[in-house]
Amino acid sequence: MRLCVIGSGYVGLVSGACLADVGNTVVCVDKDPAKVASLKKHRIPIYEPGLEEIVRRNVEEGRIFFTTDLAEGLRSAEICLITVDTPPGGDGRADLSSVLGAAGQIGELLDHPAVVVTKSTVPVGTTMRVKEKIAEGLRRRGLDPEKLLSVASNPEFLKEGDAVADFMKPDRVIVGVENDDVAEKMHLLYSPLMRRSDRFIRMSIPSAELSKYAANAMLATRISFMNEMARLCEKVDADINEVRRGLGADPRIGPDFLYAGLGYGGSCFPKDTRAIIGLGRERGAETTIVEAVNRANEMQRAWFWNKIVDHFGGLGALKGKNVAVWGVAFKANTDDVRFSPALYLIEQLQDAGASVAAFDPVAAEGAKTALGKRANELRWTRGAYDAVEGAHALVVCTEWREFRSPDFARMKSMMSAPVVFDGRNLYDPKAMAEYGFKYVSVGRKA
Ligand SMILES: NC(=O)c1ccc[n+]([C@@H]2O[C@H](COP(=O)([O-])OP(=O)(O)OC[C@H]3O[C@@H](n4cnc5c(N)ncnc54)[C@H](O)[C@@H]3O)[C@@H](O)[C@H]2O)c1
Repeated sequence: MRLCVIGSGYVGLVSGACLADVGNTVVCVDKDPAKVASLKKHRIPIYEPGLEEIVRRNVEEGRIFFTTDLAEGLRSAEICLITVDTPPGGDGRADLSSVLGAAGQIGELLDHPAVVVTKSTVPVGTTMRVKEKIAEGLRRRGLDPEKLLSVASNPEFLKEGDAVADFMKPDRVIVGVENDDVAEKMHLLYSPLMRRSDRFIRMSIPSAELSKYAANAMLATRISFMNEMARLCEKVDADINEVRRGLGADPRIGPDFLYAGLGYGGSCFPKDTRAIIGLGRERGAETTIVEAVNRANEMQRAWFWNKIVDHFGGLGALKGKNVAVWGVAFKANTDDVRFSPALYLIEQLQDAGASVAAFDPVAAEGAKTALGKRANELRWTRGAYDAVEGAHALVVCTEWREFRSPDFARMKSMMSAPVVFDGRNLYDPKAMAEYGFKYVSVGRKA
């Protein structure tokens, strides 16, 4: 098939590359000329394991192309996937300007029958707004939307860091459609990824749109729930890891997504929980659980920050202290720093007058952009150990593999004080005590 993918970010680039890899011809369109120029040179603007190789292979074999020109992308495309950003707007609801902007452009250019698919995470009703927006453009140009335009909702469930595997072997492909023809076409698109068992789930467009938000809200709920249990564990001398194992062994609950930590971040859970709350308010169906999940998430970061403050004996005592931060990405295996808890902690430390040294194997550049002027007041190091040199404390914010079993003796000899705040529960409290560290983690005895 000939496909056009609008937006070459985490979702668009992975979708485009993987769909090219199974034989489709894909034109990826992005409005950012720098991004397109770098993609044309096979340089991937994001860190996503395995992606570069797929892009390179498909560029070389002439199946994937990059452009800023939507006309070029749409030319003879049978399916057009919209994978642009939907950041939180001022009122918490999803900002749809990129999605509707793309729809407006399609309406100005489409001249042959195509299925336009919203793959971005969008509130219920957006796919039909996209349809109307495109139809307006077509009608203005004297074309008949009935003949040229069909739409579908196909939310994406990939996880950053595992995105290629998730896309190539999806747990499920959810597609919301208005008629059988579109369902068949979408099924054809995804069937190469579901050869062993058909995981295609057809539903109405509003159900598909809501399924994505519901999935993210449920996952966020599990995280906030475990964080709440972790806070309780500390009060009653229980250990959240033990509780997690006990809890996860129940097949009705399962072991995944039950890790306590610094609270969720990233480009999806914070914005999608806010969007679902906004949608609920707008439609008169209050989402009290999701509101509580969000509040618990905000509390978690502040709770962990207070542990740091308490250790130093108050905010004022942090002035002039050296604090190392390991990891700025919101989770391991990605360079995404959107809503990363590490950025929150860095800002708190800086506001308290601490000198921060930070290390992340791939996300430093993104963090520098996100932190703006604050980034200049930070010492960015080339390695994890450089960051702890002279530190009065280390704060572990991301569970990168290289942080999981460091040389503790070396760390201790380099630090001004052997203190570790572990926001990811990477280390064994008993072993840390034996090494002579003061060790503070989440929901476990010191
Ligand atoms: N990142 C994830 O893990 C993930 C997972 C599932 C779903 N989603 C959803 O997918 C959508 C995209 O997320 P992302 O993380 O890939 O975003 P992103 O910010 O990484 O990428 C979006 C891209 O779209 C481009 N763009 C915006 N408007 C455009 C236009 N009119 N024409 C051409 N290009 C345009 C931007 O330049 C940018 O490169 C969001 O709705 C997000 O919620 C994201």
